[in-house]
Amino acid sequence: MCGIVGYVGPRVAQDFLVEGLRRLEYRGYDSAGTATLNGNNELNITKSVGRIATLAQEIAADPCESGIGIGHTRWATHGAATQSNAHPHIGGENILAMAHNGVIENFAELRSQLKQKGYQFQSETDTEVVAHLIASYIEPKLKEAGDGEVSPKVAVVAIKEAISQLRGTFGLAIIFEKWPDSIFAARLGSPLVIGVGDGEHFLASDAQPLVGFTDRIVYLADNQVAILKADSLEVSHRDSGVVAHDVMQLDVESNQVDLGEYDHYMLKEIFEQPEALRNTMRGRLNEDNATAVFGGLNLSSQDLLKVKRIVFTACGTSWHSSLFGEYLMEEIAQIPVEVEYASELRYRNPPMDESTLLFAITQSGETADTLGALREMKRKGHQTLAICNVVGSSIAQEADGGIYLHAGPEIGVASTKAYSSQCLALVLLALYFGRLRHLSYGKGREMIENIKGLPTLVEQALKTNDEVKRIAKKYVDCNNFLYLGRHYNFPTALEGALKLKEISYIHAEGYPAAEMKHGPIALVDEKTPSVFVMPHGFIYEKVMSNLEEIKARGGPVIAIAAEGDKRIAEVADDVIYIPPTASYLQPIVSGIPLQLLSYHIAVLRGCDVDKPRNLAKSVTVE
Ligand code: G6P
Repeated sequence: MCGIVGYVGPRVAQDFLVEGLRRLEYRGYDSAGTATLNGNNELNITKSVGRIATLAQEIAADPCESGIGIGHTRWATHGAATQSNAHPHIGGENILAMAHNGVIENFAELRSQLKQKGYQFQSETDTEVVAHLIASYIEPKLKEAGDGEVSPKVAVVAIKEAISQLRGTFGLAIIFEKWPDSIFAARLGSPLVIGVGDGEHFLASDAQPLVGFTDRIVYLADNQVAILKADSLEVSHRDSGVVAHDVMQLDVESNQVDLGEYDHYMLKEIFEQPEALRNTMRGRLNEDNATAVFGGLNLSSQDLLKVKRIVFTACGTSWHSSLFGEYLMEEIAQIPVEVEYASELRYRNPPMDESTLLFAITQSGETADTLGALREMKRKGHQTLAICNVVGSSIAQEADGGIYLHAGPEIGVASTKAYSSQCLALVLLALYFGRLRHLSYGKGREMIENIKGLPTLVEQALKTNDEVKRIAKKYVDCNNFLYLGRHYNFPTALEGALKLKEISYIHAEGYPAAEMKHGPIALVDEKTPSVFVMPHGFIYEKVMSNLEEIKARGGPVIAIAAEGDKRIAEVADDVIYIPPTASYLQPIVSGIPLQLLSYHIAVLRGCDVDKPRNLAKSVTVE
């Protein structure tokens, strides 16, 4: 979703802006732009629709050497993806340029008030309203001062007055002609990270653009306003004065955000899964006590024993891992679990008492719906925990405690390694809660042994890549797919279908294998393949019957089955064999060929795998 970058210091700002915007491409966008100040301290704006490469060409054709600038990738919310709607936007009589991430809900009324005051609008965006609003507070003061000095504090006061009037969410980056050595930033709900360099400062929506430039970062908090100069950073609160800011260490290596030998981030991240899983479990297995260990839950065993019910809330792929989590927690830990779409939970009013514990599950830690649901539950007084990948993200900061996945940066829009790590974190959580209750020492030890073997099994599952590619070629022209599984593999089926939909734009439905006969079976024909996720287990025979029902109606079947399953080869059209493991770990292994299948089909269809149309990696609007 929209991304912001900014730079002030001795470098040519545009170089960082273009590189930073490239690194934010994964968030999803449809247009982009930059604003710098030229040698006469005049605003210099370049915008284009489409890819950053186009913007970079335009900048190269008319470069600006200045050491200050801001940039933006826009994912359209208010107004189409056009050049005039692209950011940065001008405020007032060319006094400022501003980039915005988020949504201003009361933009229509502010727009008509500003129009009455004579402000002219060049775009249909909510952002331009904020740019003019800030200008409306500053312009009278600038006029009063004439050519004289005006303190940048005037801008800070104006920004604070303006943001006090906004309803919605925003991350703002602003430069002014009057203060050519300063970038002003403000946030509410939309993340902003400041990179602290030697004699330079960077600004970005997340830490990716900063990797390799600096490893010292400051997370701007809600309602804070910052002034970034080359050699100083001042942060203040909207309702008070200057506040202290913590400089944190960024622990991402630059090779973690490079493509390396891979054609796409998605493929790279699929192949990183054994390592990601090792990192998720590192230090979290306590063999002596046959349980899992979490350093950051911030709740004692006594507190956790009082938990009578858990609610998992999430969106997209994270919702699928949450559903897997429900099956696990109920089966292994015997705790009742509800799984709620965050966008629904936020505005519903389900009865919850003080023994209900909320987990927000999110890769990015920035999804607006998930953040909103977490805040609503906090407001109601519930303990809130997060299972999150991005360290220091909004949800990680706002939850009372939680579990970091340590899966490493995930750049491909379609989540792969973060999903597998979420599933593993949930297995660990089920072990932990189980051992607090009735799960025996012996069962706990057995789970730990199985968990330790998981990364090797995932490595073996990755060896199906060539076979999956062959199968992808066979089915590449099909326009409908069914994904079917039961029990722990029902969420896997949902996730397999979502992966295909997201990156190859093929209609795919995930269903419980048996429920399929209550509707989706009507779709079955010789051009609609069904992908059955059916490793061995107590439910195998039942799923086999469902498979026969599809075959009887002429539907092709691709089966994800356990190595050694001879029977399946006789009935399925194509079989992808994966190593068998404990039923509660099998979905992580079964998920690998499904990720590869969607990847290869998308590549064969010529789709932009890492930047699928209309999607955003991190959806920071409701
Ligand atoms: C977007 C992404 C999905 C992701 C979902 C939730 O829709 O495209 O891949 O699953 O957001 O994201 P989160 O960061 O909260 O897990």
